[in-house]
Amino acid sequence: MERVLSGIKPTGKLTLGNYIGALKHFKDFQDSAEVYIFVADLHALTLPIDPEVLRQNTRELVSFYLASGLDPEKCTIFLQSSVSAHAELNAIMQNYLYMGELSRMTQFKEKSAHMNQSAIGLGLFAYPVLMACDIVLYDAETVPVGEDQVQHVELTRDLVNRFNKRYGEVLTLPKYKVGKTGARIKSLSDPTVKMSKSDPKGDIFLTDPIPSIRKKIMGAVTDSGSEVKYDVENKPGVSNLLQIYASMKEVSIEEAERHFAGYRYGDFKREVADAVCEELEPFQNRFREILESKAYVEALKKGQKKAQEVANKTLKRVQKAVGLLDLDAE
Ligand code: AMP
Ligand code: TRP
Repeated sequence: MERVLSGIKPTGKLTLGNYIGALKHFKDFQDSAEVYIFVADLHALTLPIDPEVLRQNTRELVSFYLASGLDPEKCTIFLQSSVSAHAELNAIMQNYLYMGELSRMTQFKEKSAHMNQSAIGLGLFAYPVLMACDIVLYDAETVPVGEDQVQHVELTRDLVNRFNKRYGEVLTLPKYKVGKTGARIKSLSDPTVKMSKSDPKGDIFLTDPIPSIRKKIMGAVTDSGSEVKYDVENKPGVSNLLQIYASMKEVSIEEAERHFAGYRYGDFKREVADAVCEELEPFQNRFREILESKAYVEALKKGQKKAQEVANKTLKRVQKAVGLLDLDAE
């Protein structure tokens, strides 16, 4: 069976971009593939974060996973930090990725650009090494992510090819999978920039009250002209809203465009808002129930056990391949 893996960092409030680009797709795999979904909590430490905030974000993220329809009976949901093989493999794999490669990563360049250059954490720089370990530990073949993570999966492929060339077919070569619609949802106030957890302006957070979500969509920046048309270059605002609608309704952009032919911007936005609110309202209710009942704890304990089993096997295989002595085999 195909193995699928993905994760999200518990670094801030999840946005509609996270939901459309990542979360919403995860559950599509669980009926036909072996799915591993985790909280990248070690990755959350790459930028300063308050310990209590990290703990609460982690609880919330797992609750979002469960509310989105991920079923712990069908897939493995776990915390990265609860499977020590991630850190152990990281200590090995850091020798097979190069500083030149890591310094070319867009995410690193963006996140470190405004920092004091002499105080950039090593973990931020080495972020993709740990991410590659996350992926290869589970022999993942498919990694569903938003567009911004593609470069990291490509680097993982380079690592796997390099490693296997040297040691034989030890690691599984992964590929990324970006959703057809909504790989990069933009800010509603500036549709030329990504909707992101670290920029609250123009962003819809999954925990925003429904009336405020509606208000943000009704206030979204549209473009000159009056036609509802998908044209990222000339109509970034309208195109972003079309993407959001297409993803909510699970239709293609073309179908969404056809649906809105002849609409005025106001009515168009009202229907986009309806589509988002109709989906998010029950989702938020499930989320709150899971968080309050602590249903996430059981799911994580179950997931941890399975994840450890699988990851430890891969770790052993790698340790053996590189020449670390296995005392059980001596
Ligand atoms: P992050 O917020 O960086 O931890 O991202 C978690 C997941 O959500 C990754 O797969 C990202 O690619 C995806 N993601 C984040 N922001 C967006 C966005 N604006 N549009 C689409 N996908 C996104
Ligand atoms: N880097 C991803 C992000 O910022 C999170 C992540 C960590 C991840 N390890 C992963 C995603 C492995 C997919 C596979 O969103």
